[in-house]
Amino acid sequence: MGERPYTILSCGMSLDGYLDAAGDGRLVLSNEADLERVDAVRAECDAILVGAATVRNDNPRLVVRSRELRQQRRERGLGETPMKVTITERADLDACNSFFATGDSEKLVYCASPAVHAARRRLDSVATVVDGGQPVDMALLVHDLFDRGVRRLMVEGGGRVHTQFLTADLADELHLVIAPFFVGNSRAHRFVGDGAFPWHPGRRAELAETRQIGDVVLLRYALSSRFTATS
Ligand SMILES: NC(=O)c1ccc[n+]([C@@H]2O[C@H](COP(=O)([O-])OP(=O)(O)OC[C@H]3O[C@@H](n4cnc5c(N)ncnc54)[C@H](OP(=O)(O)O)[C@@H]3O)[C@@H](O)[C@H]2O)c1
Repeated sequence: MGERPYTILSCGMSLDGYLDAAGDGRLVLSNEADLERVDAVRAECDAILVGAATVRNDNPRLVVRSRELRQQRRERGLGETPMKVTITERADLDACNSFFATGDSEKLVYCASPAVHAARRRLDSVATVVDGGQPVDMALLVHDLFDRGVRRLMVEGGGRVHTQFLTADLADELHLVIAPFFVGNSRAHRFVGDGAFPWHPGRRAELAETRQIGDVVLLRYALSSRFTATS
């Protein structure tokens, strides 16, 4: 199999390990200073990936917010915003979602084979729909992204996507931000679901950095030999 992009998983969670609050709409876990940090990580990447449930529920724009960072990308000959990538089985996505409607970058939808026609009907004018197999195989997906020129990938959730990247050992680092409150509702989504993770009591992940950012804390883990503190 070919090469894959250097991959950073990025996630905020509550003290009890939840990504959201079980209802519709986005739960704000970060603070302003941390959002600026995330913006800087985004600006260094070639592509940002989220699952289709995150596109539907959070309606994220996934653009680089800082004018200065956008300018720096332009000076490097890049578009203002990294490529946006999502994954879907059912193709229940709307071309009006902010994911598709904002940013100057290419949008890619890796769709499970049976729904590719439906996805192309709905999204042809706003995105490139790629047949990702059934289900979409993350290893094939990242190699395809590499072939499309993506060298640095940021995965911004949600839990189903993070679980697959981690269990398939496709991540080089993890940025986990802990917000100082509880959700307390087991219907909410957790950071990850069940799975056989490469890191377990017998093989502990390497904690590379802890950083207090106002009232949240960033835990940065090195998950592969490709990790360097400045990478
Ligand atoms: N706190 C944070 O940092 C953060 C970040 C991102 C998201 N979130 C939260 O996370 C929640 C969503 O998490 P989630 O785990 O439910 O969803 P998710 O990981 O965002 O997306 C899951 C969806 O992606 C598609 N998918 C995933 N793997 C696939 C595969 N191998 N093949 C084909 N399709 C695949 C499916 O889409 P279809 O259903 O379209 O078939 C699946 O339902 C949202 O409520 C959001 O607020 C939080």
